[in-house]
Amino acid sequence: MNYPVKKIAIFASGSGSNAENIIRFFGQNPGISVDSVYCNVPGAFVLQRAGKYGIPSRVFNRRELQDPEGVLKQLRERGTDVIVLAGFLWLIPPGITEAFPGRIINIHPALLPSYGGKGMYGMNVHRAVVAAGEKESGITIHLVNGRYDEGDILFQARCPVTPEDTPENVADKVHALEYEHFPRIIEQTLKQL
Ligand code: GAR
Repeated sequence: MNYPVKKIAIFASGSGSNAENIIRFFGQNPGISVDSVYCNVPGAFVLQRAGKYGIPSRVFNRRELQDPEGVLKQLRERGTDVIVLAGFLWLIPPGITEAFPGRIINIHPALLPSYGGKGMYGMNVHRAVVAAGEKESGITIHLVNGRYDEGDILFQARCPVTPEDTPENVADKVHALEYEHFPRIIEQTLKQL
């Protein structure tokens, strides 16, 4: 018997190196596909990455994210099973969190609950970690609810931070952890649905 393919929609705002890593990871998987990429920043590099793999992408604005006839309707029409936030910087509105309970996964580039919340994204996080003299940082993969970085934690991994590390070094270490673990945790979550 053939089971339907589970469909991932990736939301991203920037470069999309995690998005590409996820697309490649599931490229050979007959049961799971990255079905679409949604982006809130016209011209973001993630759109080129999606195009390289023939994945349909859509750029949307705030109104379309909030409007039940906008992004949510498109996700429903495509039969999206899971939304993956891979460097996506806007809060997901209640209409979408309620339509996808336990089915929206975010990656955060620090060890939540530290260094989370509004404005804590990308290099801002790594600068704050270095400025505070932390001895370690890492990644948190978590479910998304209506508040920034507060959903149930699915997985964390750690990396050392030395006094010599710059925010850029920390970003490299954190990205390495993201590439290693994020696709696997997405796969695990999908299998439990
Ligand atoms: C990643 O490090 C991700 O953890 C972070 O943005 C980066 C995107 O990199 N996400 C956040 O800060 C969300 N609060 P990428 O575009 O190369 O994948």
